[in-house]
Amino acid sequence: MSSFEPLVFSGVQPTGNLQLGNYLGAIKRWVELQNSYNCIYCVVDMHALTTNPAPEKLIQHTREVVAAFLASGIDPKKHIVFNQSRVYQHAELAWIFNCIARIGWMNRMTQFKDKVGRDREKASLGLFAYPSLMAADILVYRATHVPVGEDQRQHLELTRDIAQKFNSDYSHRIESLGIGINLKAGDEIICGFFPIAEPLISETSMRIMSLRDGTKKMSKSDPSDLSRINLDDTPDDIARKIRKAKTDSGPFPETMEELKNKPEADNLAGIYAALDDRDKESVLAEFRVKQFSDFKLALIDILVEKLSCVSSELRHLKNDPAYIDSVLKDGSRRASVIAEKNMKHIRDIVGLLQD
Ligand code: TYM
Repeated sequence: MSSFEPLVFSGVQPTGNLQLGNYLGAIKRWVELQNSYNCIYCVVDMHALTTNPAPEKLIQHTREVVAAFLASGIDPKKHIVFNQSRVYQHAELAWIFNCIARIGWMNRMTQFKDKVGRDREKASLGLFAYPSLMAADILVYRATHVPVGEDQRQHLELTRDIAQKFNSDYSHRIESLGIGINLKAGDEIICGFFPIAEPLISETSMRIMSLRDGTKKMSKSDPSDLSRINLDDTPDDIARKIRKAKTDSGPFPETMEELKNKPEADNLAGIYAALDDRDKESVLAEFRVKQFSDFKLALIDILVEKLSCVSSELRHLKNDPAYIDSVLKDGSRRASVIAEKNMKHIRDIVGLLQD
């Protein structure tokens, strides 16, 4: 092998119903990538344990997230859809990466800092090591491309740092085992085992914000349901939430400069643009100085049009847990084959005896 096989990997935490940010920031892109790459899409249930979910809720949300993948158009036969905990090699590689990643690197993770606030001493070790498990998710398959929203960028940079340090720490061993690929590392060429995975972050939809506060990320854990569009919202829910979405009084902004200074309007224009596969400039050109209520009506129409197939299929799949479970079982079996093949090499590289 002279270069890494292109392979897409991405994941979602089963911490609640999927919302529009997950859809536009990640899953819509996942669907498109299926045409040009082999893809592995994962429900990261072990990551969700860092939020201390009730066991019944974790099971329910795992199934719901898979239902949302399928309803959005992910094909579990051509590609792989599975839940992380079933492929134990993720946890095994995460331990090896815990011994590669430096505490200083982990201390810089802004998501950890935001989540724990001042209560750092009471945070779980799992939450601190979260990005190391994320690196293992990606690298246990030697994935080369990772489609995510902007909030995951720093975690992917850490993944790249871990891959680079592993490759350079073990490059002689990798070379002598004859299982590596020549990679550029600064001015040097070294023999590496892991690819330096590329984040795929879309410009228009990288950060979808709350409908109630344009400076806060739209999130499935926000206590206010009015702050987000859920993938299974009915057309009435969507219309109510968009009508109530915070905006300034006055007409739609006139220039990009003015739009940028109005976070709520900017966010709604971004959502419109992402749904209609165009840029914000063209949305501005269409709605500039029109009444905001007219823009909101057009936004409701496009949301209902684009999401109604997804939400009706999602409601249907939620009533068929046996089918969802069969998809996960099959996907986990196929993912395990790839993960174990790579793990065998990784154990050899680091010096863990095996059969
Ligand atoms: P999670 O579950 O928080 O979110 C899943 C995906 O949705 C994107 N996203 C958003 N994009 C734009 N605007 C928003 N408001 C918004 N909210 C969420 C996220 O960027 C993400 O792409 N750590 C990850 C899960 C994970 C993972 C991985 C991802 C675990 N292992 C390996 C990629 C590769 C997370 O918590 O995503």
